[in-house]
Amino acid sequence: MEPKRAAAEKAVAYIHDGMVVGLGTGTTAYWAIQQIGKRVQEGLHIRAIATSSHSESLARELGIPIVSFSEIDGIDLTIDGADEVDLAWNVTKGGGGALLREKIVASASKRLVIIVDESKLAPQLGRFPLPVEIVKFGHEWTLKRLASLGCQATLRTFSSGDGPYITDNGNYIADCAFGRITNPQILHEQINQIPGVVDNGLFIGMAGSVVVGYRDGSVRELE
Ligand code: 5RP
Repeated sequence: MEPKRAAAEKAVAYIHDGMVVGLGTGTTAYWAIQQIGKRVQEGLHIRAIATSSHSESLARELGIPIVSFSEIDGIDLTIDGADEVDLAWNVTKGGGGALLREKIVASASKRLVIIVDESKLAPQLGRFPLPVEIVKFGHEWTLKRLASLGCQATLRTFSSGDGPYITDNGNYIADCAFGRITNPQILHEQINQIPGVVDNGLFIGMAGSVVVGYRDGSVRELE
């Protein structure tokens, strides 16, 4: 089985009847949503909250009941992918552009399970450009402020060539290539202090479990 799918299916086994479940975004979370849909069709009773309009549509197609924050007191378990995971389980996210909703959902969750294939494991974060959600107004200046932190900051565009990428929240994404992130906590604070920044893709100390799928077909939860 594909490593991303194997990690996703192992994580979905943690879901029980009655839970409120956070649904991640991306190609790994896709497999988790598919598996949750299968279990719902077999009789699992859960309610779910999605981290993107894309994941919400997929979940609805599969018959997964979707709720909003006004209907819940918290989330039991969220399953989501990542762009990089370091040795302390600090994570970068937002490659799929959903980092803000992903962080809101993760912060409302009792447990965040990160699902990745082995290519995402890194001794240090930063090889993958860090996504930062920024408001449209003054974005040219915000990009300069981000670059002053020591990165190359690029405004994300749609691959179709249709101009700047727009998030589900109506904002832009700056992809910040740092190369190496030596202190994720300090960088997180420095980025979020810049006016115009909504949030960044560093998830520090939030992952409760990391499930990894390997090319040899095995799947392991990190300890
Ligand atoms: C979306 C994300 C994704 O979880 C992250 O980009 C990993 O994606 P994939 O599972 O497709 O490799 O943060 O905003």
